[in-house]
Amino acid sequence: MSEQSTFFDEVGGHEVFRRIVDVFYREVASDDVLRPMYPEEDLGPAAERLLLFLEQYWGGPTTYGETRGHPRLRMRHMPFHVNPEARDRWLRAMRIAVDEAKMSPLHEATLWDYLQRAAHAMVNTFEPTGIGPVAKPHGGTALPLHPEA
Ligand code: HEM
Repeated sequence: MSEQSTFFDEVGGHEVFRRIVDVFYREVASDDVLRPMYPEEDLGPAAERLLLFLEQYWGGPTTYGETRGHPRLRMRHMPFHVNPEARDRWLRAMRIAVDEAKMSPLHEATLWDYLQRAAHAMVNTFEPTGIGPVAKPHGGTALPLHPEA
């Protein structure tokens, strides 16, 4: 099994994923809907979690699981106001990042298809942005995002 190349290897490994996540967070930093959703002032730790998750998902190192456990992404997003507008802005930022990575058309289509489906699955409210607090007052049944904190 270790002989088989993974998507992670095929597209260029850590450097390529790092670049995608860096560009993505550069875009998030200047997005007035997305930026306020991130609880930490420094986007660095959030970028690191997304990087480790994507690397693991595509067959790279399993550091995400070792440090964060099961992803349970939909649950982990429950405390945040992920409406269609937030989803579309998330995808806009990710589209720029994927374009800048300049992968082969097949790899790019595979990655983009996944990201679109994942982003659609993450929507947890149809309330418009700007009504009520950015983070929902009660996390519901969501797991704490940073249980170690
Ligand atoms: C649809 C729009 C989305 C919005 C607005 C959004 C927003 C957020 C926010 C605010 C956080 C907390 C930041 C932090 O880690 O401190 C977060 C965490 C995270 N998001 Fe998203 N997200 C979206 C979609 C996605 C998608 C599609 C994926 C995966 C393909 C993803 C993967 C992650 C991961 C891995 C974390 C960290 C989870 C952990 O705590 O281990 N997100 N997201």
